[in-house]
Amino acid sequence: MTPLKVVLAGLGVRGRYWAEVLTRSPRCEIIAYADPNPAACERMAAQYGERPTFKSTEDALAALPDAQALVLANPPIGRESQIRAATERGIPMLVEKPLALTVEEAAHLVSIAEAANVPLMVGLNFRYLAVTKEVMRLLGDGIVGKASFGRFTYERYRDGNRADLNKYPLTMDQPMLWEQSIHHFDLMRYIYGQEPVLIQAQTWNPPWSMYQSDANVAAIITFDKGMIVNYQGTWQSGWAEPRFEWRTDCTNGVVSQQDQFGKLFFAQQAEPTLNEIPLPPHEMWITETSGLLEAFLNCVIDGEPLQCSGRDHLMSLAMVEACAISSREARSVTIASVLPSEFGHYDPIS
Ligand SMILES: NC(=O)c1ccc[n+]([C@@H]2O[C@H](COP(=O)([O-])OP(=O)(O)OC[C@H]3O[C@@H](n4cnc5c(N)ncnc54)[C@H](O)[C@@H]3O)[C@@H](O)[C@H]2O)c1
Repeated sequence: MTPLKVVLAGLGVRGRYWAEVLTRSPRCEIIAYADPNPAACERMAAQYGERPTFKSTEDALAALPDAQALVLANPPIGRESQIRAATERGIPMLVEKPLALTVEEAAHLVSIAEAANVPLMVGLNFRYLAVTKEVMRLLGDGIVGKASFGRFTYERYRDGNRADLNKYPLTMDQPMLWEQSIHHFDLMRYIYGQEPVLIQAQTWNPPWSMYQSDANVAAIITFDKGMIVNYQGTWQSGWAEPRFEWRTDCTNGVVSQQDQFGKLFFAQQAEPTLNEIPLPPHEMWITETSGLLEAFLNCVIDGEPLQCSGRDHLMSLAMVEACAISSREARSVTIASVLPSEFGHYDPIS
């Protein structure tokens, strides 16, 4: 089988993980790099080998008739031109989350790809963690009963000035929500198999925050089959040690995930201690991104259904936007009021 010829665009922090994951896969090969920053191109060539290098994704796609896929890991600011260029050539795309920084713009990008029937997958790598699959199995096999409510806590002191982290979140609007909570909201929908209907949220910035806009989010999220999640996330915790717990209370017990990449426990209602679920070894940012890539290749090469579609992603982006509106206007916000009607695929609450 000839490997799929991939253009890798956006060679920053995330692009470097992509280079590693693409290089390890026998089913694809990187045929070109694209990034307006020459230093990023040079660093990539030094680490992953020389390739034709372009200042823009559009130039790369125009110059390479044999390109068969695009991995786009640029910042989510103004991606229309790159998505149009790939769509016009019929090139399937794997685009990093968040697709855009408004639901409206993301819906427009989804429409461009869908109108041409070109797959647009979004980089939701956390869906492909072993722990994610195990939580779904636990909630599905009846051992703790039916999921009813949850508490999702993500506490991190994210030093946005660190050399190995991107810089645009320091000045963007609502960085925690768009850059981080988007993963968490996507996981809630994916794992619970429910769609959000109503959100009440407050976002704020602690006094010591290095971010211009809010690094803290608190939200109560109501889903269509009754699940209610109490969410708290921060990028500016008062403590450098990160903490994570996603606990789901069920009719006969609890499920507790205690690390973003692993550490899973459950207990039945009357048990005094939690039972740990063994998980396979995991290489952070690589194992789960490889799973995401496999799903993309299964779609593009084998014709399997597209996972993490742009259309599906709109619902998670709507959760983000609903949080921002709820906080700004001090009111509950329905998802139906945020999502363009042509993309709603559920019955909004009355
Ligand atoms: N899925 C994940 O776990 C994960 C983790 C980190 C970042 N991300 C996402 O990846 C994307 C990039 O983040 P990052 O941390 O790599 O940012 P970064 O700032 O480190 O790198 C972005 C790179 O894109 C380049 N770039 C800018 N405009 C471009 C264009 N039009 N075409 C090609 N390249 C362009 C920049 O020069 C830079 O090298 C964001 O959407 C971010 O949210 C996802």
